[in-house]
Order: sequence, then structure tokens, then C-alpha cells
Amino acid sequence: MADAKLPHAKLIDGKAFALGLRQRVGAGVAELVATGAPKPGLATVLVGADPASQVYVRSKGKLAAELGMASFDHRLPAETTEAELLALIATLNADPAINGILVQLPLPRHIDTSHVLLAVDPAKDVDGFHPINVGRLGSIAAGAPLDFPVPCTPLGISMLLQDALKSLSGLHAVVIGRSNLVGRPVAQLLLRADCTVTITHSRTRDLPGLCRQADIVVVAIGKREFVRGDWIKPGAAVIDVGINRIVAAEGKTKLVGDAAFAEILPVAGHLTPVPGGVGPMTVACLMFNTLQAARRAAGLKVVSV
Ligand code: GUN
Repeated sequence: MADAKLPHAKLIDGKAFALGLRQRVGAGVAELVATGAPKPGLATVLVGADPASQVYVRSKGKLAAELGMASFDHRLPAETTEAELLALIATLNADPAINGILVQLPLPRHIDTSHVLLAVDPAKDVDGFHPINVGRLGSIAAGAPLDFPVPCTPLGISMLLQDALKSLSGLHAVVIGRSNLVGRPVAQLLLRADCTVTITHSRTRDLPGLCRQADIVVVAIGKREFVRGDWIKPGAAVIDVGINRIVAAEGKTKLVGDAAFAEILPVAGHLTPVPGGVGPMTVACLMFNTLQAARRAAGLKVVSV
């Protein structure tokens, strides 16, 4: 049991922060267009009819339009060949009206994702998945500007942590999960912010013991309520990237994270809820990345992060 005297964690309100970021992006779009530059353009590409992916792509296009951007929605049938998809990407790369290209993942199995990610112009790679951008992030110096696209969820996490904790310098961050989507890039961003970073994964020994040393725990592994309350150092910040759908009472579905929220709440200093924590930051950061790409295309300096 946690000490009853300990205060409850402060909830990190990702929904509110994302709303503010969206407003800042909308204002940035208006400012850019006022200089005579064209509207920032975001192309989304979805291959196949996965229902969750359809929802994500629709919400990205809708938000882009709300923020004053031009949105180009490409839906391709599941049987699309890799060559056909690469041909579309080449067209989008060459189109000056498009500043950002987002190919929704996962792709059907007959398409090699690495070929597709490599085909996107690195300047339009608003997901930050192109090997050039992955390499830039992997070799960035402490505090150096992010003048290239950075993966959206990790960028959102670093914004939330900077906002909640102010300085991250010298803090020990334990990242659970080593995916290209979240674990690795978030570790690089925390290193850039002068954290001491430990990346852990399914073969890590004594994960609870490592977590107990952490000032920041970021968990992104897709296992419901995996991180327990007694793994957390009192006062630590816990960032929960998991979105796991479970069947709750009366057959209703409910979203839970990778961290045991009720156990961690009395121990941690800061905690992201699920939903309403990291989730809303991803699409807001996609809009941010698209604006940044449009600013670069117009020869303007990017907004610093
Ligand atoms: N599928 C799940 N998350 C993402 C993401 O951040 N970007 C893309 N392109 N596809 C995804």
C-alpha cells in the first residue's frame, strides 16, 4: 500500500495541451498564409479498409482542414501493389502543394513497409519514419534544434514532460519498449533533453528494480496494466502510451493503459491518464510537423520545440 500521506499524482492533461497546440498550429497556419505562402498541404494515404485506420486517417484529414491546411486523402484498395503505392508517393513527393505525406501503418503484408518509408521525401516525412530522419534524431546533440521531422507520439510525450517538469536535465528516464514508433525515438528526445536514459524491453532483467530508480517512466508495450504501483518511485512522472481495449462491466468496452492507473496514482508525482493523456498529442503533433514542413518549404525558420 502506498503511504496515505503522499499526495496523489498530478494528472497530465494531454487533451487540454493538445487543444492548445492545435490552436497554436492554426494560428501558425494563418500567419504563414498571410505571408503569401500557399496553405500547408497534408496528404494521407491508406491502403486497405482496416476500420481503426480509417478512423485515424479521417480524423487527421478533418483536423488538417480545421486548422486551415489543405488535406489530400488517398484511399487505395487492399490489393494495391507495392509498385503502385511507390508511384503514388513519387507523385506526392513532386507535388509542391503537398508539404506532408502520411502513409498509415500497418500496410498490407505483401507491401514492404521499409521500401515505402524510404520512398517518402525526407522533407515531407511528417511521421519522422524515413531512415534519414531516424538517423538525424539518433545523432542529435544535447539541446540542438529539431530542424527535421520527429515522430509524432514521442514529440508529444517530450512536450508534455517539458511542460509538467520544466527541466528534464539529469533525470533518470526508464523507457519500456524499443519500438521504432515510440520507444527508441522517445529515448533519443529524452537524451537530447539531458536525461539519463535506460531503454528496456522484454528481455530486460529486473524491470521493476530499474523502474524504482526512475524519475520518469515511459511505457509503450501494449500490455494492459503492466507497470505496477510498487515499481514507481514516489514523486516520479509516469507516461502511459498504451491503448488497450478491454471488455468492462455490462459488455461495454473500455480503454486502459500499460500502467496500473489506480495503483500508480497515489505514488507518482505526475501521471498521464488513458484516454486523454498521450493519445491526443499524436495527431496534434502531426499538424505541428506539417506546419513546420510548410515553413521550411517557404524558406522560413521552424518554430522551436
Ligand atoms: N499507425 C499507428 N500509429 C501511426 C502513426 O503514428 N503514423 C502512421 N503513419 N501510422 C500509424
